[in-house]
Amino acid sequence: MLFNLPSTLRCALYTATLLSSLVTPTQALTPAEYLKLKQDGNSDLAWVLTSDGVEGKPALRQNDTNGNSLLGSLDAPTYGSFIPSGKRDTSPPWGSRTALKTNPYEESPDTGIIRKYTFNLARGMLASDGIPKSVMLVNGQFPGPTIEANWGDMIQVTVINNLENEGTAVHWHGMLQTGTNDQDGVPGITQCPIAPGQNYTYSFRASLYGTSWYHAHYSAQYVSGLYGAMIIHGPTDNAPYDIDLGPVLLADYYYRDYYSVVKDVMGNDSSKIIPKSDNNLINGKGVTDCTRVNSSSCTPNAGLARFRFQPGKVHRLRLINAGAEGIQKFSIDHHPMRVMAVDFVPVTPYTTNIVTLGVGQRVDVLVYAGGQATDYIWMRSTISSCSARHQPNALAIINYSQADPHGIPSTTAFLDPTDPCAEEPLSQLTPSYPIPFKPSLSPDTTLELDIAFLINATGSVLWTINNSSFKANYNVPLLPLLTRSTPAPQFPPTQNTYDLGSARTTRLIINNNSPAAHPMHLHGFDFQILAAAPNGRWNGSFPSVSSNSNSNNKNLPSNPARRDTYLLPPNGYVVLQFQSTNPGIWPFHCHIAWHVSGGLYANFVAQTAMIPAQQQQRKNETQGEGLCLSWDKWTQSLSEPGSPTTVVDQIDSGL
Ligand code: C2O
Repeated sequence: MLFNLPSTLRCALYTATLLSSLVTPTQALTPAEYLKLKQDGNSDLAWVLTSDGVEGKPALRQNDTNGNSLLGSLDAPTYGSFIPSGKRDTSPPWGSRTALKTNPYEESPDTGIIRKYTFNLARGMLASDGIPKSVMLVNGQFPGPTIEANWGDMIQVTVINNLENEGTAVHWHGMLQTGTNDQDGVPGITQCPIAPGQNYTYSFRASLYGTSWYHAHYSAQYVSGLYGAMIIHGPTDNAPYDIDLGPVLLADYYYRDYYSVVKDVMGNDSSKIIPKSDNNLINGKGVTDCTRVNSSSCTPNAGLARFRFQPGKVHRLRLINAGAEGIQKFSIDHHPMRVMAVDFVPVTPYTTNIVTLGVGQRVDVLVYAGGQATDYIWMRSTISSCSARHQPNALAIINYSQADPHGIPSTTAFLDPTDPCAEEPLSQLTPSYPIPFKPSLSPDTTLELDIAFLINATGSVLWTINNSSFKANYNVPLLPLLTRSTPAPQFPPTQNTYDLGSARTTRLIINNNSPAAHPMHLHGFDFQILAAAPNGRWNGSFPSVSSNSNSNNKNLPSNPARRDTYLLPPNGYVVLQFQSTNPGIWPFHCHIAWHVSGGLYANFVAQTAMIPAQQQQRKNETQGEGLCLSWDKWTQSLSEPGSPTTVVDQIDSGL
């Protein structure tokens, strides 16, 4: 209904709702107290997965563990280097564009092709690791279907909300949404949630290529299973290979439903506010030691993911950390990897035994299959000690081409010398297409953002950016407000919104006043990483060589690392810079589900003056108003007759 009101009235109403949810900080947690909470947590489940007890033939069928998904089974598809437009089509639609020579931000192709998908979101029961649980599924699949497109295609996804009692919205992580801010899928920012029984069709261009994922952005829903991979085919001249094995989704796993964990996170029982994940899955599969967990219906040996290697061939694996909190350390026994892309950025390949991914990050690796045709190899991913976890180990099996489907490897793991809280070393991340950074040119806008946490008046932990914790208002998304009023309206402090005006270059200095590592993710842009280090604040210089190997940014100034998610080191800092030329309101947040629940979230408004005209032009292509009408109607139906409540009971930030 609100959209029928004059915008001033809608704004006033909006301010009143938000002011009532402002928090009063009472007490700051000290870093030491926080660390202690993280270590105490709930009492540990007394088991850790080792390869010893794993049996070959799984006890459960693929359908019991993953529903309609083939991921993790030997029947999962492999991928070509592009989607041909017909049987005889042998040349990719991006023509002569290359990873080394083409600026992907400025010379993205337009193929004129639309890839259409329908996603039906509904709950179901699965025993992905042997313990039955109600999960949220896309088309009955966990993980959700893989989106596949060529660079420059349009992707169109109709999302149908059959989740019964909650709204939803789906975000396409890493997609720049240039000119299509309204398709970003963030409830309370770019849209109202899709009400139960309603649907919404997203449409956006695959303007970058590589590997990413989509996920629900409504509360912590994705932790209950609402996520899947995206493969965008593009040039691979930076690192050619033979076989694309597709997505390898790494995700920490919680036995309880996301909402129950969010309740703990937002509650005031300090023993529960830092939840530990229970298990660790690769492509939605894992096993449980049923003798050690408190579940009457646990099936041991539910089944591990399997992949197939062709001897003598180079395989591409698209690693994605789709978890809630855990930092993943990925490796394949006896098989060093060549990293060829981080997030949507192709890089000069470098060799490593262990790859680190914070939540939201992707790393594409090439693996040469140097073994025998009958070999079995362990694939491993371990949630690092920087994260709050019970059982940290995930295993999967690589069958060489002639190996029996149910055999078990006996290989041993590489030692892991990496820092548990640090991402891939900046010194290694050399973008294939260089974009120089000029230290002498100052950016149009510089923002200094301090991340911290506090205990509010009711005893809950809130995360803050510059002392303000974010809270979304699902019924009044910000983008339509920016569209209706010039100059841009002043949003209440709980919206953590920073107006970049017409700045074309924006620098972010992020200080981490907490002992946790935060995978900071920016929508709408890739950023350059100009400086970073644990323990300390930025001193204003851009050292090309720092004493810490993880921040040895040897490519400054000629070609600094770029990506869309950076793992901010504990108690440290990072300096990011991006071209803020994409008009719209863009989230910048910690991708740890529980931290964003607690408000570790901000918005940047870019090219503010251009937003109204752009959105006016897109009005006929989008159905945003309809979404808000049906959402308002649904939320009104929740309240008792006569009661003024017309919003959902929102215990977290909403995102
Ligand atoms: Cu995967 Cu707001 O992000």
